[in-house]
This record gives sequence, structure tokens and C-alpha cells, in this order.
Amino acid sequence: MQSFAQLATQFNHFFEREHFPASPASLYAPNHYFLQLGGKRIRPVLCLMGNELFSSIHPSAWDAATAIELFHNFTLIHDDIMDKAPLRRGVQTVHEKFGNNTALLAGDVMMIKAYEYLSKVSDASLSSILTLFNKTAIEVCEGQQLDMDFEQQSQVSLAAYLEMIEKKTSVLLAASLMIGSILGGAGERNQQLLYSFGLKLGLAFQVQDDYLDAFGDPAKFGKQVGGDILADKKTFLLIHALETADSNAKERLSYWQGRHEPKKVEEVLSIYKSCHVDDWALQLKQQFLEQALADLDQIAVVSSRKLPLQSLADFLIQRQV
Ligand code: IPE
Ligand code: IPE
Ligand code: MG
Ligand code: MG
Ligand code: MG
Repeated sequence: MQSFAQLATQFNHFFEREHFPASPASLYAPNHYFLQLGGKRIRPVLCLMGNELFSSIHPSAWDAATAIELFHNFTLIHDDIMDKAPLRRGVQTVHEKFGNNTALLAGDVMMIKAYEYLSKVSDASLSSILTLFNKTAIEVCEGQQLDMDFEQQSQVSLAAYLEMIEKKTSVLLAASLMIGSILGGAGERNQQLLYSFGLKLGLAFQVQDDYLDAFGDPAKFGKQVGGDILADKKTFLLIHALETADSNAKERLSYWQGRHEPKKVEEVLSIYKSCHVDDWALQLKQQFLEQALADLDQIAVVSSRKLPLQSLADFLIQRQV
């Protein structure tokens, strides 16, 4: 059994190859630029951990993990266009540096590369892995569209928010784990429990992401702090504030929706603070973490094998990056 750090190092070793040719540089330079920036590699490591929970790493797990990380990076390039985000991993986003049209194509070609790696998986389970991967990719698109639809809506329920973040974020974490477990030879019930663990963990992960978008340390976070506020994203922070703020604060929150003046971020952040969103973030993360760990608990393998996943779960909801 290996830790997150050990698996991430091994994965990076496998992943640091040229995935794309040199020419035409106008198409591939953006992908080289983006991939060499790194990233936490959470999803490929989840795939490897899902495998190791049940047996030693299947040789094809490296290709599956690579496919997953490439797919994730494709979603980030397109997400940054949709969110008009200037910064990612501490530097200019791909579309800011190379233009929207090139960023679209660079993302497309990265997604196709992801499928190329997935198709290298040499195991009888390939067809069920592909089915899961496709279902996941479609759900991510659905979640991303809901995320944008919500920008235009003045009120979004917590339930609708949770459905949206489950689709845009959780399903990929869950599928990464499940693909690993399939390659590890897990039985159906264990696969489902691990998927469910990933869904809950993903909710806690996105709650922390939304929290950091508002309150992260700009020096560490690597993304534009306040970006969600500027884009009128309906995060749990806004939903909670709209539910609990006094009428004056509610009016100010509504006033800022759809506006783009320099003081917007500062003003909205001060309302968030006055509504004690910190406590709420903690409570939500704790609730999903407990649900996730309850699923993990039920998986029928000796409990010592679950330790790396337990510590990764703790790390993910406390992360500052
Ligand atoms: C960012 O994911 C996108 C979300 C789903 C919040 P990560 O925080 O895993 O991004 P990298 O790969 O480490 O940069
Ligand atoms: C992104 O959610 C989810 C996907 C990329 C599919 P966010 O828009 O919150 O992710 P960041 O904060 O830009 O990384
Ligand atoms: Mg974004
Ligand atoms: Mg987004
Ligand atoms: Mg975010």
C-alpha cells in the first residue's frame, strides 16, 4: 500500500512524457505549456489507490490514470474559457495566453488523447471502463452547463447546487476510484461503495474549492481569488448568505448580482464573513466526509488497506491549494 505522495511521484514519472508532437506548435504549445505546470494529480492517484485497495497495480492502471488526468486537464482549459478565468496554477490561463479558439482546440485534442490512452487498457474490463468513462464525461458537461445556467438565476437551492457540483466535479473523482477498483478485480458491491465514497468526497472537495475561491491565500491558491463572486457563481457561500443575512445585506447581495464594479468582491466577502460562512463550510465538509468514510468502512477488505484513502480524504478537505 502506498501513500498519496508515493503514488503521485510514480504517476508523474509515467506522465512526464511527450503526449503531443511538436508541430503545429500553434496547437500543441498550449498543451505543453499547461501540462508542465503540474497540478495535484488527485484523480490519477485516486485511480491507482482504487486499484491498490484490492490488489497490486495492474500495468494498465497507468494508462487509465493518464487518460483521467488528461481528461481533467481538458476540462480545466475549457472551464477557464467559460469562467473567464485569468489565472490557473499560478500562471496565465491557456485562453488568455493563446486565445479562445486555440484553447478550444488544444482542449479538444487533449480530450481525444485521453481516449487514446484509455483504449490502451489491456484487460477484459475495457468495455465497462469505457462505458463508465463516457457516462462520467457526459455528466461533467451537464454539470458545467448547470453551473453556467445558475449564473443567470437569482436564487438557487442548496439541493440544486449539490446536484450541480456532483456532476461537474464529484463524478470524475468517483469514476477514477471505480476504474482503479475494476482493474484491481473488485467485486460489484465494493466497486459501488467506492464510487459512492468518491461522490461524497467530491462534494466536500468542491465545497473547499468554493471556499478557497473566496477566502484562499492568493499567494498559494494559484487562481484568481474572488473569481466566483465576479462571475455570479451560485456557490454554497452565496446560497447560505442569501438564506441567513439580514434584509439589508440581502439587498446588497442582490444589488451586486450581474454588476462588475471594483468593490464587488470586497463587499460580498464582508457579507459572507458576517454570515459565518466559515462555520457552514466546515459543517458541510464534515457531513460529506463522514458519509464518505461510512461508505469506505463498508468495503470488504482489511481496514489497514483503507488508510491511504482515509488520509487523502482528510487532506483534500483541508487543502489550501
Ligand atoms: C480543479 O481541480 C477543478 C475542480 C474540480 C475544483 P484540482 O484542484 O484538482 O486542480 P489541479 O489539477 O490540482 O490543478
Ligand atoms: C470546475 O469547477 C469543474 C470542472 C473543471 C469540470 P470550478 O470552475 O470551480 O473549478 P476551478 O475553481 O476553476 O478550478
Ligand atoms: Mg473555474
Ligand atoms: Mg467552472
Ligand atoms: Mg472553483
